[in-house]
Amino acid sequence: MASDRVPTAKRLAGRSAVVTGAASGIGRASALLFAAHGAHVVAVDRAPEIEETVSMIRRTGGRAVALAKDVSSERDVAEIIETAVREFGGLDVCYANAGVSGGLVSLFDTTVEQFTEILNVNLVGAFLTLKYAARIMVSKGKGSIVCTASVAGLKSGAGGVPYSASKAGVISLVQTAANQLSGTGVRVNAICPGLIETGMTQPIFDHARSRGTEGKIGQLNPLRRAGHASEIAHVALFLASDDASYVNGQALPVDGGLSSSLPVVPRR
Ligand SMILES: NC(=O)c1ccc[n+]([C@@H]2O[C@H](COP(=O)([O-])OP(=O)(O)OC[C@H]3O[C@@H](n4cnc5c(N)ncnc54)[C@H](O)[C@@H]3O)[C@@H](O)[C@H]2O)c1
Repeated sequence: MASDRVPTAKRLAGRSAVVTGAASGIGRASALLFAAHGAHVVAVDRAPEIEETVSMIRRTGGRAVALAKDVSSERDVAEIIETAVREFGGLDVCYANAGVSGGLVSLFDTTVEQFTEILNVNLVGAFLTLKYAARIMVSKGKGSIVCTASVAGLKSGAGGVPYSASKAGVISLVQTAANQLSGTGVRVNAICPGLIETGMTQPIFDHARSRGTEGKIGQLNPLRRAGHASEIAHVALFLASDDASYVNGQALPVDGGLSSSLPVVPRR
């Protein structure tokens, strides 16, 4: 029980962890934070910058391996999980975070090909990662799986049709999987970030800065600012660790309060 545990500074000491989408943004920040908390990290991304993430971890004395893989490929996902077991002796934590936005394309401009591509990465990728990770964790009777959903999966207004549908799917996946894994000791949760400055949203921030309107970014949430990747990484660390030992099947908004309210005219 949580109350019986002596708090330790390193929350994932000696744990084996997979983080997907770790070449950039939220995934990189999480891989670095998990490693700083003692995890041995399999850092996954289809982008070559994944090597840089692992170099950053090793420079600070952490253990990590880089894998250039596509989370929408079942064969790649099987290899990702096998690598964690082979390199680090098991799998304790899996953060299925890789995703693509597809931009704010309008309903009528969205093609079936675009819709399918986004679902393949964001939803099928999360499903495959969760499924293969859970197999290993169930055999050990313990483990934590975290997925990155989005506020776009809770309400409209934060993404295009395929992106929002994919993230709503991730929330349902997490709820359903947590219940199907009943009695196994494996927890499954999702984080629903609001607007965070990362590779995915860089064009929004660059555009606003070029016009001198960056002060308007994030003004719809009560904290009146955008979030940082490290602010999501700390929630991922909490859910991954035993600190969240009784948190299961939840989709946790981390959005400065955006999703807590109906649209209102901001007070001056
Ligand atoms: N940035 C935001 O405002 C925001 C808000 C809500 C949710 N999210 C979600 O957070 C997650 C991380 O995104 P981010 O904001 O850090 O963006 P990012 O673009 O900085 O990072 C996403 C990473 O995922 C990788 N990736 C994409 N498709 C992949 C695939 N098929 N296989 C392996 N890797 C793949 C990319 O190469 C990239 O490195 C995504 O799931 C995204 O939908 C982001």
